[in-house]
Amino acid sequence: MNINDIKTVAMIGAGDMGHGIAEVALLAGYKVNLYDIKDEFVELGKKRIFESLDLLLGKGKIPQELDTAMREQLLSTTTDLAEAVGDADLVIEAIPEIMDLKKKVFAEIDNLAPAHTLLASNTSTMSITEIAQATNRPEKVFGLHYFNPAVLMRLVEVIRAEKTSDETMQIGMDFAAREKKVGVYVKRDTPGFIANRVNQAPAVLIGEILERGEIEPEELDAFVRLMGSAMGPCELTDYVGVDVAVNVSKYFAETLGPDYGPPAHLLKMVQEGKLGKKSGQGYFEWPNGERPKIDFSKATRKFNFLWTFFVQINEATKLIQEGVVDTLDEVDLAMVNSSGMPFGPISLGRQISKLDLIDNLDMLAERYDKPMFKPTRRVLGGGHKF
Ligand SMILES: NC(=O)c1ccc[n+]([C@@H]2O[C@H](COP(=O)([O-])OP(=O)(O)OC[C@H]3O[C@@H](n4cnc5c(N)ncnc54)[C@H](O)[C@@H]3O)[C@@H](O)[C@H]2O)c1
Repeated sequence: MNINDIKTVAMIGAGDMGHGIAEVALLAGYKVNLYDIKDEFVELGKKRIFESLDLLLGKGKIPQELDTAMREQLLSTTTDLAEAVGDADLVIEAIPEIMDLKKKVFAEIDNLAPAHTLLASNTSTMSITEIAQATNRPEKVFGLHYFNPAVLMRLVEVIRAEKTSDETMQIGMDFAAREKKVGVYVKRDTPGFIANRVNQAPAVLIGEILERGEIEPEELDAFVRLMGSAMGPCELTDYVGVDVAVNVSKYFAETLGPDYGPPAHLLKMVQEGKLGKKSGQGYFEWPNGERPKIDFSKATRKFNFLWTFFVQINEATKLIQEGVVDTLDEVDLAMVNSSGMPFGPISLGRQISKLDLIDNLDMLAERYDKPMFKPTRRVLGGGHKF
């Protein structure tokens, strides 16, 4: 089997990610069966796709013929799982991040889909290997990890689980290329894969700084916004959902070690129902869902922005040591294409003194009592090649 055999894609879950991933497949000319558990959810997913197509058409980014074909021929919706996967060559799952639910749905799909069909999960962090064990075709199960919003973000991590075949991985990489995405080959199924794993390191650092009250959320966000980011880290946590951030950190703590876990103040916020934008209160208040107003005059002078890159570089070198990627350039490729940043942590790290990097990592590990920040063997090794 090769990429030319993929003609129909079943999209399981029509939520934030599912509708976007479905749209990307439609734009690449694939037939898409969009599935969700209730009519209102598939209809909402379809509405969101059409709204996005309206924008693309309005800006002249897609021809009228493709727009018509996508709406009238390529997209179909259903709440019947057998119908969704019955003629699919590739199934992509984007349902809630709950392992037992994913395993249950994969077992059902395995029973209903043709024998040749490949099954992919868009999980952000969880083990594809464990999901694959729920099926009788683990060699055909892999990760296709898109980033939000899927239409705009260029990265797709193509993840190899323990039993994924070379053929499946090749089709995954070719599929990403057909969608005009940047596919990065993830050789080993590790929590958070590349981008989310590398980003967990600064998340832990910032969580500790806030936990100790060294900097207030508004002071930090004002600073990061002045450095050019569209959103500060506290606002981003509120936007994604404090509960989502806590669940991700808990999963990292269970799989990689306690250092990666959530700070106490985030756990407390979840207990108090302060879930961020969706509850109207998180680090900030969100009146009627409106973005918090940040007072830039409060920008902290106590935070060294380079620290976030230092801990990212250190985490990236662990991915090499664990056999997840072959080169750190692939990490940079993933980091740049999953963010709005014009450069990745590795290219920045190559511009700075390695002794500075080592000294700062040692300092951060001690000051925040986080052995995960200690410089890795690769960072400590000779030359500038981390
Ligand atoms: N939101 C992000 O930024 C992001 C980014 C990358 C990956 N992911 C991952 O994508 C997946 C989906 O996340 P999301 O943000 O789109 O969630 P979401 O809550 O927006 O959408 C999930 C959809 O799945 C549907 N669903 C629930 N149970 C189902 C079932 N049994 N069968 C089919 N559909 C079912 C829901 O009705 C909902 O429409 C998660 O694994 C998440 O970790 C999310």
